[in-house]
Amino acid sequence: MIYLDGRGKMSKIVIEGGKPITGRLRIQGAKNAALPLMAASILMGEGERLLLRNVPHLKDVETMESILSFMGFLPEREGNSLSLVAPKDIKGEVPYDLMRKMRASVLILGPLLSKKGKVVLPLPGGCPIGTRPIDLHLKGFSLMGAEIAIKHGYIEAKADGKLRGAKIYLDFPSVGATENIIMAATLAKGTTVIENAAREPEIHNLMDLLYKMGVDIGRDGESTIVIKGVEELKGSEISVIPDRIVAGTYIIAGVITKGNIRVENVNPFHMEALLAKLNEAGVRVEHGENWIEASFVERLSGIKITTLPYPGFPTDLQAQMMSLLSIAKGTSIITETIFENRFMHVSELRRMGANIRVEGNSAIIDGVESLSGAQVIATDLRAGAALVLAGLSATGITVVSKAEHIDRGYESFVENLSSLGARITREED
Ligand code: UD1
Repeated sequence: MIYLDGRGKMSKIVIEGGKPITGRLRIQGAKNAALPLMAASILMGEGERLLLRNVPHLKDVETMESILSFMGFLPEREGNSLSLVAPKDIKGEVPYDLMRKMRASVLILGPLLSKKGKVVLPLPGGCPIGTRPIDLHLKGFSLMGAEIAIKHGYIEAKADGKLRGAKIYLDFPSVGATENIIMAATLAKGTTVIENAAREPEIHNLMDLLYKMGVDIGRDGESTIVIKGVEELKGSEISVIPDRIVAGTYIIAGVITKGNIRVENVNPFHMEALLAKLNEAGVRVEHGENWIEASFVERLSGIKITTLPYPGFPTDLQAQMMSLLSIAKGTSIITETIFENRFMHVSELRRMGANIRVEGNSAIIDGVESLSGAQVIATDLRAGAALVLAGLSATGITVVSKAEHIDRGYESFVENLSSLGARITREED
């Protein structure tokens, strides 16, 4: 059976490559913004309602809905809107089977601890792209007065009454730690200052929501965030920002197939690093206030890319760029500085004829004329998307298995690509 909506139990994507991807596409809301916004609902007082708009239909969003349901919320979906009403008593424990489905479930830790003064939650495991510890999150909570113990795979965090505002310097601008500490600080006693905080647009989205919910929160310069704790947060509403990674993926799909894509409902200012690099490689890029159009002009030139915290080049577009640069003229170098093990797509791209070698945290890509279709495995969400892009440009048939990874972050991926001219189907394994 073939499903075109990219969901359900299907797990293989089959692509007949070589057809240019062209047309316009409206981009979904950002997964990485929706998840912390949903977690912020834990901070509301009883009976308060949070209304989120532009919420994408994704596996990870469903997982967060299940976690909140377990805690007593009644999530209500209507189209792209999601409404969450705070229950009387929020459960402070979530079973391992639910938490382990998604690493980002760790985002409930900060708000729960702040709200209840005590939480017992399963420690998230590693994931294919790296060990991804949460030491920076825990260090922040302990500076705010929480006692933290790890026992039998669970984190037990306890505050003596309320958390206290604190000055917290992050050794690295971790996105999740910044979000978790911000949320923990909203109900703490006094002021919290986070230095070397992450600057990703998704964090602005969260700060905007918390401000609307009654928190005195702002930035002091680019990398310092100041939060004054309040007694209770009220309900509010906000739109999830457009997904800059999904937008970037479709733009690359256009270019890698020698086509032309216009993505709409995007914020080009969130995507400057990608647009600059595409431009440098020879792509023609134009944009307006909320759209970007990227066109293939001639074979791309090799470039150097280093992934960095925002506003640097996003690690979540590294794999997709590697597919693109595999068929550029000359040599490209991609250096990954955010995750220690995010080159698992390299061996799969090699199966498709790419000439890539890894030296430490750099991949050296000698561009080939074209890729050839092969059977490959999606090892994680973005690697999966990158292999589909490679398949779209390759000669012959590419079969990407474990395609369910892609459902975590891309809404109707197969259907969208198909509407843009790709010969692509999804099949049962
Ligand atoms: C978020 C994004 C993810 C993206 C990543 C980097 C969400 C739901 N996910 O993940 O898509 O790839 O940002 O842009 O928003 N680290 C520590 N200790 C910590 C926390 C992080 O050492 O306590 C390390 C991690 O192992 C990793 C690096 O810091 O090497 C970046 O992690 P972080 O910014 O926290 O990413 P996430 O929030 O997990």
